[in-house]
Amino acid sequence: MSQVPAPQLRLVLAVSLDGRLAPAEGGAAQLGGSGDRRVLEESLAWADGCLMGAETLRLHGSTCLIRAPDLLEQRHGAGYPPQPVALVVSRSGQIPGQLPFFQQPIERWLVAPVSAAPFPGQLSDQSQVQAPGFQRHLPLEPWPRLLSRLAAEGLNRLLVLGGAQLGASLLREALIDELQLTLCPQVLGGPHSWVPLQEACPGSHWRLQETRPLDGDELMLRYARKGP
Ligand SMILES: NC(=O)c1ccc[n+]([C@@H]2O[C@H](COP(=O)([O-])OP(=O)(O)OC[C@H]3O[C@@H](n4cnc5c(N)ncnc54)[C@H](OP(=O)(O)O)[C@@H]3O)[C@@H](O)[C@H]2O)c1
Repeated sequence: MSQVPAPQLRLVLAVSLDGRLAPAEGGAAQLGGSGDRRVLEESLAWADGCLMGAETLRLHGSTCLIRAPDLLEQRHGAGYPPQPVALVVSRSGQIPGQLPFFQQPIERWLVAPVSAAPFPGQLSDQSQVQAPGFQRHLPLEPWPRLLSRLAAEGLNRLLVLGGAQLGASLLREALIDELQLTLCPQVLGGPHSWVPLQEACPGSHWRLQETRPLDGDELMLRYARKGP
């Protein structure tokens, strides 16, 4: 029986001690310091592609790039492009074209509904949405189908950059394989829990893979899902 390809997904977030990914007032959150930046870049260096929720992109205007020379060298040596592919996930397709994101030296793919894909069941290169700066437009499909298509395209390691809505939609379907949290020494309160407060996710259990104390009293924790 042929195996359906599926990429490995790692959700990477900086969270406060009370589990918030943004301050109570919302906006573009910057919780982590230099240590968090390093572990984020290490995950970027691991990844073939990064999934990002459209709201995170609209708020921040750009995506994270690998800047550390040793990580760029590592990717170069392994024959990978300098940066992973940036995939923006959206139902609306509304990504303002003036965002600095469109000037970043990366490959950009949009995952959003396509009213009529030219070849049903295939990846589409059409760009019928208001975001012409993308190199590819993939139709938004149920996650398992979309993920196996990404694996077939060579994106076998996917970093999930958040935010909470995107992460929760993958957690809900037990599709996150690894969870990498940087605990930041702040208590923020407010509604922006890293799993949205109203979200019902099936209970899941995780095995600790790595802990690393970081500068600024931060702590990186990486867990792998224990079974389905
Ligand atoms: N601390 C951290 O590490 C970290 C990391 C990332 C983000 N953040 C923070 O998180 C906040 C943003 O998070 P958020 O939860 O509000 O938004 P989000 O998950 O970044 O984006 C939500 C939007 O993404 C699209 N989307 C998400 N899941 C989708 C799915 N399964 N299918 C189709 N489209 C989907 C939709 O876009 P459309 O509206 O276009 O349809 C949705 O409205 C910001 O404050 C940001 O700074 C923090």
